[in-house]
Amino acid sequence: MEHKMAVIGYGGMGSFHVTRIFDIIPSIKVVGIWDVQEERRNLAKSFGLIGYESLDECLADPQTDLILVATPNNYHKDLSIRALRAGKNVVCEKPVAMNAAELMEIMDVAKETGKVFTVHQNRRWDKDFVIVKKVIEDKTIGTPYVFESRVQGSKRVLSGWRGVKKNGGGMLLDWGVHMLDQLMWMIKSPVVSVRAELFEVYSNDVDDNCRLHIQFENGIVAMVQVDTNCFINQARWHVMCTDGTLIINDWSCNGRMVRLLDNKELEWTSEIVYTEAGPTRTMAPRPRETTEEIELPVVNPSWSDFYNNICAVIDSKTNGSNDVELIVKPEEALRVMKVIDLLFESAKTGQSIKCNI
Ligand SMILES: NC(=O)c1ccc[n+]([C@@H]2O[C@H](COP(=O)([O-])OP(=O)(O)OC[C@H]3O[C@@H](n4cnc5c(N)ncnc54)[C@H](O)[C@@H]3O)[C@@H](O)[C@H]2O)c1
Repeated sequence: MEHKMAVIGYGGMGSFHVTRIFDIIPSIKVVGIWDVQEERRNLAKSFGLIGYESLDECLADPQTDLILVATPNNYHKDLSIRALRAGKNVVCEKPVAMNAAELMEIMDVAKETGKVFTVHQNRRWDKDFVIVKKVIEDKTIGTPYVFESRVQGSKRVLSGWRGVKKNGGGMLLDWGVHMLDQLMWMIKSPVVSVRAELFEVYSNDVDDNCRLHIQFENGIVAMVQVDTNCFINQARWHVMCTDGTLIINDWSCNGRMVRLLDNKELEWTSEIVYTEAGPTRTMAPRPRETTEEIELPVVNPSWSDFYNNICAVIDSKTNGSNDVELIVKPEEALRVMKVIDLLFESAKTGQSIKCNI
């Protein structure tokens, strides 16, 4: 069944959705946009879309059954609730809201109206992440115990509302939410402790660089780092497993995976090695023949799965079968928002916070 969609907030991300949906999602037709800026509405009209004159007009359009909310973060809650109450299914951009309490309000309305509500956690389809997830699921290098997940740049700019606290700016909400969503979706264990360091290196309103420490009940520890003031990048992923190490350097998925070979270490581990920094047993370089290099798995994630899933869920509700589950469930977004709330609290107090999320 074809679905007709309107977009609220036709900026950078709103336009991305419109173009990508047009290119690769035949079951959705974007028919119109509502944006508070007249120039954005006019731009939409120049592409043959309806440029609604008001939010009310947008939500009252009987032909649409799906709304995308892609405004600055502080408007997500009210707009999502308005759209749900208008009888529309809703996709909301990340971060879904300013905090967990706001998301719970949206979830209550979604339940009350029976409409589909989901969040654009598109980085579940990033190739680098999908490789990490596959290596872990296949146990290619054993059981993981430490994940380091980083995005780093040096532009030193948080443009527009991203630099403004009341709009939900800052890197924890902007990028942290993606990286936490990836980790908490992949690691099937409750979060039991969090700690954050948030830096305002050049911004004086929001965090422009952050370090997040997450401990899971199963013993796994994750360190998430978002930097906008980093001039020498580290790897996007550094994953420590019991039988090997995985590194993915960048979004092009250049990287390496090294696996321990059986039994060979017994022949050399007690030798002292003389390095330039003196003798050592523990940190001596391992002979190459005791490990093997493994190719990173080939994966082909497709972002279209996100929207195809939403259409399938709406269709299954419409035909009464209700047999399709959302890939990005509001309950999952709620766990992430609860962790983010605690990370902000931890950054204020400088303390780790125990939890069960
Ligand atoms: N999933 C991703 O990878 C990703 C990437 C970028 C941005 N985003 C998210 O998308 C959202 C928008 O970000 P962006 O980069 O497109 O911002 P943007 O500033 O480029 O665009 C926002 C648009 O919303 C409009 N707007 C503001 N308030 C509005 C309101 N109350 N009603 C209607 N329109 C309003 C603005 O005029 C602007 O055109 C944010 O939540 C952001 O976090 C997600």
